[in-house]
Amino acid sequence: MNTCVVGLQWGDEGKGKIVDILSESADMVIRYSGGANAGHTVVREDNEAKFALHLLPSGILRGNIPCVITNGVVLDAEVLINEIAGLKDRGIEVSEKNLLISGRAHMVMEYHKKYDRLSEAALGKGKIGTTVRGIGPCYSDKVTRMTAIRVADLLDLDVLREKVFRIVELKNKIFTAVYNDTEPLDPQQIFDKCRLWADHIRPMITDTTYLLHKAWAQGKNMLFEGAQGTLLDLDHGTFPYVTSSNSSAVGLPAATGLPAKAIDRYIGVVKSYTTRVGGGPFPSEQDNKVGDTIREQGHEYGTTTGRPRRCGWFDAVCVGYAVKIGGIDEVVMQHLDTLHGLEELKVCVSYHHKGKKLDFFPAEEVVLKDVECEYVTLKGYNDNLREMTSYSDLPEAVKTYVKTVEDILGIPITMVGVGPGRAQTLSVPHT
Ligand code: GDP
Ligand code: IMO
Ligand code: MG
Repeated sequence: MNTCVVGLQWGDEGKGKIVDILSESADMVIRYSGGANAGHTVVREDNEAKFALHLLPSGILRGNIPCVITNGVVLDAEVLINEIAGLKDRGIEVSEKNLLISGRAHMVMEYHKKYDRLSEAALGKGKIGTTVRGIGPCYSDKVTRMTAIRVADLLDLDVLREKVFRIVELKNKIFTAVYNDTEPLDPQQIFDKCRLWADHIRPMITDTTYLLHKAWAQGKNMLFEGAQGTLLDLDHGTFPYVTSSNSSAVGLPAATGLPAKAIDRYIGVVKSYTTRVGGGPFPSEQDNKVGDTIREQGHEYGTTTGRPRRCGWFDAVCVGYAVKIGGIDEVVMQHLDTLHGLEELKVCVSYHHKGKKLDFFPAEEVVLKDVECEYVTLKGYNDNLREMTSYSDLPEAVKTYVKTVEDILGIPITMVGVGPGRAQTLSVPHT
């Protein structure tokens, strides 16, 4: 059984938590897209054991499960090496025994991060609100081809040196000409860093496409960890306020080399409300007391950048769209505990634009930013759900909320979250 876990909103749905739980019965955990823009939080047995992962698949915390970073990822070696060192300090060893990296993955370089900073600053108020991790510029160079550096380039330092010098000199010219930048990057310094990265990473570099096909042929249980969310997908998300990869389920085949039919089950993760970090339309946003309550109760601050997340009601129109795009089989709904204390709960069930009800999630930014949400209103609940250990113990108002969303989406909600911990994820019985 090969399973893919993807976010159905604008990221941070709690994918890391689910991947960590499901990794217990996986033979391999695979991260296939995005880069260090992702921040996946895993909270083990008690709240003391909290891990924030950016590049390592969440399965790495099990210690003994092979984890794979495939060609679709853009690799910031500095972040990866720091992440590995951080885990080592906490007793988790990461080496070529449990981590393999595709030589086809692209390297995030210093100039990508610099370009991200310069271009966001130049956009001013109209900026995307990126994580400034160099993600977009790195994927741009992948498409440009002759200005790209791949992980496999670390295997031949002579060739790499030539590439680094040629590309850094070109980037310096662009930064000066376009952004009046007066602090050119030093190619030698960048190359020296690459040499250090190569020493760390070399043993882990492999052909992950071959590896995954072998595992598939052997009937291994592969668990794929999506990053970002469907609404941040480059093609299908809320363009241009998106990330630079196909972060929805459609991205998996290109990002791994496995055909779509290799995946048996797509699990979509949502929160019981909606959050978004960065710019862009957000129809059900509650820039008011409700949003503030959700932010504080759910600790809605970015795992990667620490930015406060924008908060709003659950939007069944955008999640319904994400379910369709991803061919999602089942949904996990996180953060039911966070909604406690709100007198009433709203779920957006349709969009209206210029007085007309829309049939489908709109493709145009100008439409989406002006839609009005039609809501159904449900009863709130005051109970503290965090101590509850079985779905049947949850208050009726909670079950009604879950069932209402399930009926609107038309696919089963199979698990719900009542807290950040492993044990705070409850199975939803379906007869
Ligand atoms: P990811 O990027 O999708 O892996 O999600 P993040 O880790 O960025 O953000 C999800 C946040 O919600 C993390 O801080 C999790 O520990 C936390 N979380 C996940 N599920 C629940 C839940 O059911 N209740 C609460 N209160 N927190 C949760
Ligand atoms: P996880 O995997 C939430 C958002 C950024 C910005 C936009 C583009 O933790 O769910 P980028 O740096 O990718 O060019 O930024 O995408 N974004 C995320 N938002 N969770 C993420 O990842 C995100 N990764 C990127 O905030 O709006
Ligand atoms: Mg996150």
